[in-house]
Amino acid sequence: MTNESAPVRRAHVTGWGRYVPEQILTNADLEKMVDTNDEWIVTRTGIRERRVAAAHETTASMAAVAGLRAIRTSGLDPDDIDLIVLATLTPDYWMPSTAALVKEAIGNTRAAAMDVSAACSGFVYAFSTAQAYVTAGLARHVLVIGAELLTRFLDYTDRGTCILFGDGAGAVVVSGSDEPGGSLGISLTTEPQGAYMIWLPAGGAKSPPSRETVARGEHYIRMEGRETYRFATRTLASTALESIRRAGLEPGDVSLFIPHQANIRIIEAVAKGLSLPMNRMFVNLDRYGNTSAASVPIALAEAVNEGRVAVGDRICMVAFGAGFTSGAVTIEWTADPARGTAGDAAVRPGDVNVRLPVDWDSVDPIPPALAALMSRPDPLHIPLDDVVPGDPEPASVT
Ligand code: ACO
Repeated sequence: MTNESAPVRRAHVTGWGRYVPEQILTNADLEKMVDTNDEWIVTRTGIRERRVAAAHETTASMAAVAGLRAIRTSGLDPDDIDLIVLATLTPDYWMPSTAALVKEAIGNTRAAAMDVSAACSGFVYAFSTAQAYVTAGLARHVLVIGAELLTRFLDYTDRGTCILFGDGAGAVVVSGSDEPGGSLGISLTTEPQGAYMIWLPAGGAKSPPSRETVARGEHYIRMEGRETYRFATRTLASTALESIRRAGLEPGDVSLFIPHQANIRIIEAVAKGLSLPMNRMFVNLDRYGNTSAASVPIALAEAVNEGRVAVGDRICMVAFGAGFTSGAVTIEWTADPARGTAGDAAVRPGDVNVRLPVDWDSVDPIPPALAALMSRPDPLHIPLDDVVPGDPEPASVT
């Protein structure tokens, strides 16, 4: 990434895309696995089914399909992207970042790439990062992705959590331009008092993975559902309102809300709190459950492709999640909504390839592409002898 583009004033959504795995887990399927029933799940959450990634799929592979679809929708080439910001709480690895894997899988050679961690609010946090880069002139086109493979972190004996979550990915391209519209107002909050209301106890530095942590099931998501519900209802409404007011608008000016898809009762409470009818709230959680950082961008892409969004519409994307975090962004839509379906159709899952390690037990041998990169003339002419005794000097620049 270079710092060459001139400062621009506005961040516009120019591309959008989504990917969900084919395999469906219905409430009836869950009835066979845990002590629950369809009626309880539908009335308490609104969820009827969710998607489960196939064995060969990962967060990076789903993110790459959604990301490439967003790029195709925008009419750009992968190499036009200056920065990739990927929100997830289920990265493929601790390191490298999932964004780095996605960069290679979509065929981008130029972008800086990083992950953002803000749980279910992650996509809105990543979007605000993209806006900051674009309006500061540090990037012209940013690929913002929310992607999750939550079903591999669920305890299927805990009926309070395993019924809620599903897998998938969504993405947008955020582009800088001096045209009016685009992102109008952002609000982000973090409330650490809620840190242990939703958490994944083991695997990090505080409690590295061990036989004992696995035996205690500490590698699975834990949640205090009722407290989370109460906090979510309040914070979603207040964060959305803050972002709308920062945009110089009132809730009635917003044509469509894209709320985090956690629970239909939470979304209904937000509509009531903002004195708006439910037809202003986009809902698809009946089909996908809670896909955490992926839920808002999947919902946005579906809303646009289903004809719910027109040029000039004001849209508020709002999310809450572990942390506790919340975030909302109010935008004025400026892209041709008809482009999305073609963007989706242009990319099949087999079109992306996330590179796997050659040898799982050790560090890979240097791949030819990396060797070629390192043998390029070095403009700084750094003497390699100092670090690798006996290595030949790099070729000098002519
Ligand atoms: N099937 C049947 N019964 C169940 C189930 C189930 N799947 N789960 C819980 N129950 C039972 C409970 O054991 C309890 O029984 P009891 O009264 O005999 O003790 C009863 O149902 C009521 O349980 P509650 O937890 O009080 O149910 P509630 O109405 O609060 O619904 C739910 C639970 C759906 C989890 C709700 O609290 C919720 O949606 N919370 C928000 C969760 C959320 O959005 N999390 C995502 C955060 S985003 C992120 O960053 C990951």
